[in-house]
Amino acid sequence: MKEGWVNPLRDPRDKRLPRIAGPSSLVIFGITGDLSRKKLMPAIYDLANRGLLPAGFSLIGFARREWEHQDFGQQIHDAVAEYARTPFRESVWNRLAEGIRFVHGSFDDDEAFDELAETVRTMAEERGTGGNTAFYLSIPPWAFPVVTKQLARCGLAQASEGVWRRVVVEKPFGHDLESARELNAIVNEVFPEDSVFRIDHYLGKETVQNILALRFANQLFEPIWNANYVDHVQITMAEDIGIGGRASYYEGIGAARDVIQNHLLQLLALTAMEEPGSFEPEALRAEKVKVLSATTPVGPFEETTARGQYVGGWQGGKRVLGLHQEQGFPKDSTTETYAAVTLQVRNRRWAGVPFYLRTGKRLGRRVTEVAVIFKRAPHLPFDSTATEELGENALVIRVQPDEGVTLRFGSKVPGTTMEVRDVTMDFGYGHAFTESSPEAYERLILDVLLGEPSLFPGNEEVELSWQILDPILKHWATLGPPEPYEPGSWGPPSAEAMMQRTGRHWRRP
Ligand code: BG6
Repeated sequence: MKEGWVNPLRDPRDKRLPRIAGPSSLVIFGITGDLSRKKLMPAIYDLANRGLLPAGFSLIGFARREWEHQDFGQQIHDAVAEYARTPFRESVWNRLAEGIRFVHGSFDDDEAFDELAETVRTMAEERGTGGNTAFYLSIPPWAFPVVTKQLARCGLAQASEGVWRRVVVEKPFGHDLESARELNAIVNEVFPEDSVFRIDHYLGKETVQNILALRFANQLFEPIWNANYVDHVQITMAEDIGIGGRASYYEGIGAARDVIQNHLLQLLALTAMEEPGSFEPEALRAEKVKVLSATTPVGPFEETTARGQYVGGWQGGKRVLGLHQEQGFPKDSTTETYAAVTLQVRNRRWAGVPFYLRTGKRLGRRVTEVAVIFKRAPHLPFDSTATEELGENALVIRVQPDEGVTLRFGSKVPGTTMEVRDVTMDFGYGHAFTESSPEAYERLILDVLLGEPSLFPGNEEVELSWQILDPILKHWATLGPPEPYEPGSWGPPSAEAMMQRTGRHWRRP
């Protein structure tokens, strides 16, 4: 055997091996909510189905609703059967169900929290969880202070020798820089920063992680990944759904706070950051912090941003409501459902390269992508008619739904004349790999249980993201209602105008 050879099956550093969580339990606050039903429960089941949870894994739900234990189990069963990614298997479900408990009470109810503490202890004894517990706050931010204080009061927040305690926080992390700082302070008063896991589920997506692989595992792209070659970058997250049913969360929040502050700025950070020294969490976070510190909005905002609100009409052959008619939204709601902003990254690599970020509901189709648009060749030795239909070279990272990468470049049109036209070269996950991608929440919940923080933004990143967005939000707050746009369109006319002013145009994915 070669000296120094390490059996990869035995080598704990081999990142290809499946990682299985150690003894642990998960407590979910807000277990009756939509997120829990559609994402968290199915993800936990999928992890169990893939054999990645420990034998005695326990799940404790905490909610105000007075459920009998069986009813609670039934609710989870139904959610899992409907939304899980992997096939439903009764045997896996039964094993998981043995470790499910429910505690009911309100957040200011001391007795309920004492019961929760007792349940965590019982699970440690009966199921060997070791007392290791993650608390998932799938609740509105106003409830963070009372819940974290309760956890501290009944001793649940306190880690001890060989026993970990972690908290998982869902967005929104505040509504501006100041409130984000307050929220971070509240959480950090009870949980030390290295026990806080802030969820940005985009970081759990396969294709988002592929940005790192594409950039740093290849020689091809790095030399052209800068202002010498890149004209601009477009980051798009378009959805065809509206926001019916989510008024209590969305009203007063709007598209920029909901999506740009977190998902899109994280995509920008991964696209624009320098190569980290390693993929250790601290090294990765340090690079993201550095690039976000260098990112600022470009003004004047009347020309460089756009905001819109969808009206009622027809989409895909179906009649849909406008935001004003959706339940829970006031008739004069000024909440934007479309937002586009122009940012710059003030460093040597990106000087002068605009980053355009846009997101919206009820748009033409559901698509998320990062498009790096290159400058035109400095000289085209063809007749001008030969290149009339030639656009810019583009590298498009398709985050979803058709995950992959597209490269667009000019090619000769077959024939006896010289004509150059754009063609695309495609890599699709579906064709290239047989493995299917785990759901973002599967990966992130597993990472919480493993104590692996790489894919969770630190508080500095969250605060920097607000710092970038705040001036734009302040400007918008001085304006009247957002510009209306038709369902199924690509946003309000001002979005197109903002690009045209710079001689560019949005992609039509
Ligand atoms: C959430 C937003 O973070 O992301 C929602 O709050 C949005 O408004 C959702 O619909 C989109 O997630 P995905 O994974 O379907 O792109």
